[in-house]
Amino acid sequence: MTLAGVRVAYNESALAWVAGPDAVYGRLAEVLLTRSPVSIQGARVLDVGAGTGAASRAAIAAGAREVVAADVADGMLRGLAGRVHPVVADASRLPFVAGSFDLVCAAYCLGHLPDPIAALREARRVGGGIVASAFEAGWVHPAKAVVDDVLAGFGFTAPSWYTQLKRDVEPQVDDPHRLAAAAAAAGYDQVEVTVMPVASGLSTPAELAQWRFGMAHLAPFIQTLAPTDRARARLATVAALEGAPPLVVPMVVLAAR
Ligand SMILES: C[S@@+](CC[C@H](N)C(=O)[O-])C[C@H]1O[C@@H](n2cnc3c(N)ncnc32)[C@H](O)[C@@H]1O
Repeated sequence: MTLAGVRVAYNESALAWVAGPDAVYGRLAEVLLTRSPVSIQGARVLDVGAGTGAASRAAIAAGAREVVAADVADGMLRGLAGRVHPVVADASRLPFVAGSFDLVCAAYCLGHLPDPIAALREARRVGGGIVASAFEAGWVHPAKAVVDDVLAGFGFTAPSWYTQLKRDVEPQVDDPHRLAAAAAAAGYDQVEVTVMPVASGLSTPAELAQWRFGMAHLAPFIQTLAPTDRARARLATVAALEGAPPLVVPMVVLAAR
């Protein structure tokens, strides 16, 4: 899996991400930060793989003094300002001195890193505690298959960075036992991993379509469609999702120090 592929996909998806997935990840981040192993009040927080800043905003709302939002995709960081400081950086080689932060947050980022133990070691070097999240193995919602099928009808095939990520990378962190073992291998002494079902707040077919259409493996393809095809794909998705259940995400949460 090339880091360049991931970076390009997220850069191309940034606007669609803000319009769709950002709301889901925002809710997930609020819940994630309730599991912080250190107090967030007045803390200096590093948000690794920050994207459009869902966890950075949640950290500020929870009382953090300031947040550094680090991501390889500069386009995702573009809207961040105020007490959230964007930095283009690779989670595997963080450009910070040891002990720079009270807390490192890695919201849905470890599952993008080919060597999560090395990244956790980096997080431990620069921060006191960590909270990190991943999707639980085997998790499904009908919107995923519906959108994949509809877009396949317009010629979509999953990009190679994404198939590699799903096959080789995510399985290292989407199982609570493997994630706990990775954190221990990185040197964390007190490790807790739990699975929390989080109600995202999304329930209507239109909301579910908006979420999927902003994902980084799909949005760049959708942008290549003619406006009429894009509209047809959206209508077909919304029709197929009639009666679909609300989006509840089983979030694997690592809290360690
Ligand atoms: C699923 S998104 C999550 C974004 C954000 N944390 C959230 O919860 O909304 C994963 C993010 O990790 C970033 N990413 C992937 N590989 C990375 C790496 N090696 N170093 C830093 N960021 C990375 C991507 O660019 C993307 O913004």
